[in-house]
Amino acid sequence: MNPIPAVDFRPLLEATATECRARLDELFARGHFILGEQVRNFETELASALEAAGCVTVGNGTDALEVALREAGIDSPKQEVIAPALTAPFTGIGIAGSGARVRFADVDPETLLLDPADVAARVTKRTAAIVPVHLYGQPCDLGAITKIARQAGATVIQDACQAHGARHKGKPLTAYSPYVAYSFYPTKNLGALGDGGAVLTSSPARAKRMREFRDGGRRGGQVSFVKGINSRLDEMQACYLRAFLPHLAEWNAWRVKLAALYGEALAGCDAVRPVQTGPESVRHLYVVRAKKRDKLRAHLSARGIGAGIHYPVPLHVMPAFADSGLRRGDLPNAEKAAREIVSFPLYPYLEESAVLRVAEEIRRFY
Ligand SMILES: Cc1ncc(COP(=O)(O)O)c(C=O)c1O
Repeated sequence: MNPIPAVDFRPLLEATATECRARLDELFARGHFILGEQVRNFETELASALEAAGCVTVGNGTDALEVALREAGIDSPKQEVIAPALTAPFTGIGIAGSGARVRFADVDPETLLLDPADVAARVTKRTAAIVPVHLYGQPCDLGAITKIARQAGATVIQDACQAHGARHKGKPLTAYSPYVAYSFYPTKNLGALGDGGAVLTSSPARAKRMREFRDGGRRGGQVSFVKGINSRLDEMQACYLRAFLPHLAEWNAWRVKLAALYGEALAGCDAVRPVQTGPESVRHLYVVRAKKRDKLRAHLSARGIGAGIHYPVPLHVMPAFADSGLRRGDLPNAEKAAREIVSFPLYPYLEESAVLRVAEEIRRFY
């Protein structure tokens, strides 16, 4: 039996080899490796694909969050930023990088997305921003979250690092707030072959300032006008991303199709309960809550099937965030989910027969 790894880039690389090579040939002919025409063109192409007014690429998704926060005027420990506890640690790291204090809120027990009611309960006079994370490809309730932010005088910075191509209630994500952060970590719906990230914005003026900020606060010369950071997408990653971007819709559809197949193949298997999603999810991951989760993973692993956990430890109980003011027991939905969730293989070019085999092994385990 062939193994079914948690991720496999080889078929994707084969399918795009000609386009990648053509872009790399352009890059080598030009010999300009930082902030050149590949990055410039990719920014234009991504802004257009995601219907945003501007796109500013950076070195990774963590920096995208930090750059957006700094552009929103958030840089002091007197300011608080509310984020969900169930997310990649980098959501919290990006917020901490801005200089603000991160305050964690609980997630909805069914969708595992930031719970607006819990956010509202945690707003204080210091709340400067709210960071909804569109976890597993599913957009958060942006209507409710932007309303809370408006009342609090806070900015919404969306963490869309797992949601490339997702829209909310038929509108692009930048229709809801001026900053949407993306990561191009290789496993993402749109991934590079290394690190990368971007802030998509509804404001050309903000895009201009963030473009300077990510390049040391420079404006094309050798003078820094603000103490920015050095976080630039490199030209080679932009080559790959330009080759992959035209496939994004097709790859998202592939994920959606496989997720539906998992749903059908596992229907009636009461030991696994899919995390609730809506029709606008781009299905970054296929996540279920599973009985005997760790034994199930070991069973699958012994049969060559990779299954991950996103994420095993909520941020408020990680040592790095010991100063969050929260302890184990304080965010029960995130904590319970972290004990139960497991992600099954789901990526473009994964065959339907592989999904059926994973489902069969899950049934056999129970
Ligand atoms: C939800 C979320 N936020 C932020 C990040 C950070 O992105 P990066 O790894 O590109 O810094 C990631 C990816 O790791 C993520 O999944």
